[in-house]
This record gives sequence, structure tokens and C-alpha cells, in this order.
Amino acid sequence: MTPHDIVLHGATGFTGQLIADCLAQHPEGSRFSWAIAGRNPTRLSRVRDSVAARGTEPGIIVAQAADQASVQEMVADAKVVLNAAGPFSEYHGDNIVGACARSGTHYADLSGEYYFQRRMIDEFHPEAERTGAKVVLAAGVDSVPSDLGVQLAIERLSAKGGRARQAKALFTRYAGSFSGGTRRSMQSRKETQRSDEYEAEFHADPYVLAPGAERAHDGETVAGWDSYRFDPDLRRFGGPFFMAPINARIVRRSLALDGHLPCTYEEGISVAAWLGTAWLYMSRGFGYFVGAPIPFRPQSGEGPPPWLQRAGSFCVLVHATTEDRTKSALVEVRGAGDPGYRATSKMITEVGLALLLDDEASPRAGVLTPATALGPVLRRRLAKVEGGRFMQFRMLG
Ligand SMILES: NC(=O)c1ccc[n+]([C@@H]2O[C@H](COP(=O)([O-])OP(=O)(O)OC[C@H]3O[C@@H](n4cnc5c(N)ncnc54)[C@H](OP(=O)(O)O)[C@@H]3O)[C@@H](O)[C@H]2O)c1
Repeated sequence: MTPHDIVLHGATGFTGQLIADCLAQHPEGSRFSWAIAGRNPTRLSRVRDSVAARGTEPGIIVAQAADQASVQEMVADAKVVLNAAGPFSEYHGDNIVGACARSGTHYADLSGEYYFQRRMIDEFHPEAERTGAKVVLAAGVDSVPSDLGVQLAIERLSAKGGRARQAKALFTRYAGSFSGGTRRSMQSRKETQRSDEYEAEFHADPYVLAPGAERAHDGETVAGWDSYRFDPDLRRFGGPFFMAPINARIVRRSLALDGHLPCTYEEGISVAAWLGTAWLYMSRGFGYFVGAPIPFRPQSGEGPPPWLQRAGSFCVLVHATTEDRTKSALVEVRGAGDPGYRATSKMITEVGLALLLDDEASPRAGVLTPATALGPVLRRRLAKVEGGRFMQFRMLG
């Protein structure tokens, strides 16, 4: 098989095709070779022809995720594997992570299923550390903005001479919608919670991705921001955010790996953010005014229509403070494009390129998070995409 720098598995899915587009049209395209991978050769050829018409042409690898030998062959000739075939717990993501960990191949995915992520940590973290593989979980909007934002706020606080004991994030904009794969992953999470596969404590454990971590106190919950309230530090009304349980677990793994615990973390969304999304939907008649309605029960391969991918955006404020609250830091991470898909595909593309090309990335290996695998290197990369128009990281205090 021809060696490829980057292999994109799950390229035929809704998100996979957007990632393939990003790779095909990337301004650094001359610096890497790449291939798309999946189980269906006809669909793969269609994706190849479609992206090649707009940019570089990828190779094709037909691989069966359920078959260890097939996965091994796909991984053996790659330096970085990006995986967009989810639900990851159902589509044999463990075979791909395992093959990468054993062979020292870097890996990134879009997983949000914490039970899958925990299993990858338990089964493959020591092996990936030994071989030098960086396995980056949750490399899309879940959880790049929260994870990099918290890391930046803590760095800022530390530059002021403070040690963080409390961090919180509030999304003040989150305008987009969801895809068939995300809907299926949410169902998969519910089914797992209803099954007796894990104890109730496992699901309720805020530190499930940071086994053995030093906790801040016993009263912490998974998302932390569990009711509507005015936050005086962020000067906004906020409430529970449906993506927070995914992000908060990842952020706590980063806090643990970076030695910042004990430090509480909570994440929510402002009331204004929901009003902004409602206004965006209504102003286009939920897509009917522009001939492309938003699918609210999307099937596999479906997701936000192109107008929403373009008009969407996100913004998160992150505040970190010391135990006595005498020192604090406030940062903002904002981005253009529907967060779950247009923005996510750019994020995981830059994660892949950072893993491949950026020598100054930390030497740390194992089953990691975006912040602990790449941190400042990824921030710099994301801030340069589209001449700075895609994502901005700003210090506000
Ligand atoms: N973390 C984030 O920020 C974020 C953002 C976006 C998406 N996601 C996640 O990304 C995943 C994909 O979402 P999507 O909407 O793009 O999904 P989708 O359109 O349904 O695509 C699913 C992909 O998985 C492949 N697949 C299906 N069954 C498979 C199997 N048994 N073995 C191997 N591959 C299989 C499909 O290949 P075929 O074409 O051959 O069926 C397709 O390439 C979901 O888990 C979603 O939650 C996360």
C-alpha cells in the first residue's frame, strides 16, 4: 500500500466529507500526502472525485473497522489517522486507536462518548506513551474551544502569579445545528446509560476521564453549571449547556495531565446565545426562505444546510481565578461557521496537520486531549486559518 502522511477514516460521512474538503484545499497541501478510508469503495470514489475537483486528490484505502488486520494495514502506512466514523463506541473506534497506539501513529477523532474515551485511556494510554503516539480525543468543537480556552486562561493567571482553583466557561454564542451521526451518538449515550454496562457512579463521575485525579470537593457535578443564574465574573445570565458534559470531562483530563488539580470546572451557555440562535433560525424561516430547511431529525449523511454552515458561529468566555479570588484571568475564544461541522472540520484538520508538521508540539504521548497534546501550537495554527478570520483567542483581563 502507498504510504500516506494523513489517512482520514470515515470520509464518506457528513463531517468526514467536510474534513476531506479542508484537506484537499489546505494552503499547506504541498507538504503532505493523504488518503480517504472507509468501508465502501463506491462512496469513497465519489468523495475523492468531488474533493479532487476543488483541490488535491487523495488516495483511497478500503478498510473494515471491525477487522483488526484491515485496520492494521490502514494504520501501518500512515503518520496520522483522523477518525470521523462515529458513534466511535459502535463503529470499532477501539480497533483504530489500538492499532495507532501499538504502531506509534498519531490519531485524532471527534468522539464525545465518555465511556468510549475512558476505555481508550484504560486500554491504550500506557502503550501510546511507550510508542510515542499522540491519541487526541474530542478534536472538534467538542472540545477544542473549551479545552484550549481553559488552558490559555490558566496560563494567563499563572503569568499574573496566580494558581487556578476555579475555572468556568460560558458559551455566549453557539449558532448551528446537528447531523445524523451526532443524533445517533446521542442515542448511543442514552442507551449506554440505560444499560447495566456501567454503575450509576461511573456516569455521574465528573473525573471519569481523569482516573485517580485529586478532586476539588465532593459536590462537583459533571457539567457544573446546572441551573440558570447570573454570573458576576462573566456578567451574563447562563444555564445548562447540552455539550458541557462532553467538554467538562475532557477539560478535567487536561487539568489532571497538566498538574492543575485540584481546580473546579463548570461550563454553561448564556441565555443570549439561545436567543441569537433562535433569531438566526427565524430570520431564514428555519431554512425554508432560502430553499434549504434545517433537518431536525437528520439521518446518517445529513446535517446543517450550507447556509447555516456559513452563517453559524460560536464564542466562549473562560474565567479562571485563585482560591482567595484576588487574581483572575478572562479570555475569549471565538470562531466563524456552524460550530459542529464547518468549524469542527477545520479544527480537526489543523489538529492533524499539527501532529504531522509541527515539531515544536509537546513531546508528550498517550491518550490525550487537544490542549495536552498540542496546546499553544494548535492555538497558533487555528489563529492563522483564513488569515485569522476563522478563530480568535483574546485576553480580556
Ligand atoms: N466532537 C465534535 O465536535 C463533533 C462534531 C461533529 C461530529 N461529531 C461526531 O462525529 C461522528 C460522525 O458524525 P456524522 O454526522 O459525520 O456521521 P455520518 O454522516 O452518519 O457518517 C458516519 C461515518 O461512519 C461510517 N460508518 C458507519 N457504520 C460504520 C461501521 N460499522 N464501521 C465503520 N464505519 C462506519 C460511515 O461510512 P459509510 O458511508 O460506509 O456508511 C460514515 O463514513 C458522530 O459520532 C458525531 O457525534 C463530533
